[in-house]
Amino acid sequence: MKRITFVTGATSGIGKSLVIELLKKGGVVIGVGRSIAKLNALEAELKALDFTHFFPIQGSLNSHEEVKALVEKTKVLLNDKKWQLTDLCHIAGQVNSKKQRSPDNHELTFQVNHLAVVHLTHQLLPFMVKALSSRIIVISSLSHYRARLDFNNLESLRGYNIMRAYQRSKLYNVLFVKGFSKKYSGIPIFAIDPGLVKTPIGTKQTSKLASFIWRWRSKRGDSPLRSAKHITTILYDPSFNQHSGAYVKHGQIVPANPLIEEAANVDRFWDITLEMLHIQGDFGQ
Ligand SMILES: NC(=O)c1ccc[n+]([C@@H]2O[C@H](COP(=O)([O-])OP(=O)(O)OC[C@H]3O[C@@H](n4cnc5c(N)ncnc54)[C@H](OP(=O)(O)O)[C@@H]3O)[C@@H](O)[C@H]2O)c1
Repeated sequence: MKRITFVTGATSGIGKSLVIELLKKGGVVIGVGRSIAKLNALEAELKALDFTHFFPIQGSLNSHEEVKALVEKTKVLLNDKKWQLTDLCHIAGQVNSKKQRSPDNHELTFQVNHLAVVHLTHQLLPFMVKALSSRIIVISSLSHYRARLDFNNLESLRGYNIMRAYQRSKLYNVLFVKGFSKKYSGIPIFAIDPGLVKTPIGTKQTSKLASFIWRWRSKRGDSPLRSAKHITTILYDPSFNQHSGAYVKHGQIVPANPLIEEAANVDRFWDITLEMLHIQGDFGQ
């Protein structure tokens, strides 16, 4: 059976390398991108490499409506092909120099990096193969260790700065992974720490200064291919079946921020997130 993997952030950096790695392994990839031009270019590039199992879907994670529209397009494809998803890989992410609100009035980094991950997981879970060989991957970051958990200011609306909002969103990824693994045993879920990776992430929604600093800093980063290979190993290696909820750096399970170990933090954060998304009754089993 071919793995059918849904990948957000397919048009750049780690996501794009992951798409190519998965296609090389003979899998089917449904790749999500916000830019139709970039998706078309990717599809053409993959066809030129003789990869025919790539299925692009245009969709943005900026708002609840856009996430729902993306889910609808995915359902149409899955129904049409009579497929179920083996894996869900949440790779898309952004950093924002300016505090911006989403159409649903959430801080944009919080919406794209955290809420959209939970929303998509909830909506696509019914279309996944319920097996220990399936996977949900959420890409977090080393920077999550520096984040503080302030339940009175989760979206960094007070004292916003680019790094604080980003670090917190990546802490929320790990909290979600831990919460999901506690509540839902049907499919293993993992938070990934790719280390520092040379991609354009810090040059997109950022000031000239932040963009300059990222270009200089990321020169020392790994190739996105290295992260893609580690993620692919987690998808294919059955030894990960028993480690749902783990934080994995460069293919090794390592401790995450100690805040994650406090059940009260995980449970409270889980409840708040589900309430924000109007999700009732957990995710079902
Ligand atoms: N690079 C690092 O050192 C590093 C370290 C730790 C964690 N990470 C995480 O790795 C993930 C991938 O980042 P990357 O470094 O590979 O950066 P990247 O090259 O900029 O890739 C980010 C991807 O997310 C997509 N995206 C951004 N905002 C979106 C939105 N609102 N809706 C839909 N798609 C959106 C981008 O689309 P476009 O192609 O249209 O821009 C792009 O495909 C991120 O979650 C990031 O936090 C990166």
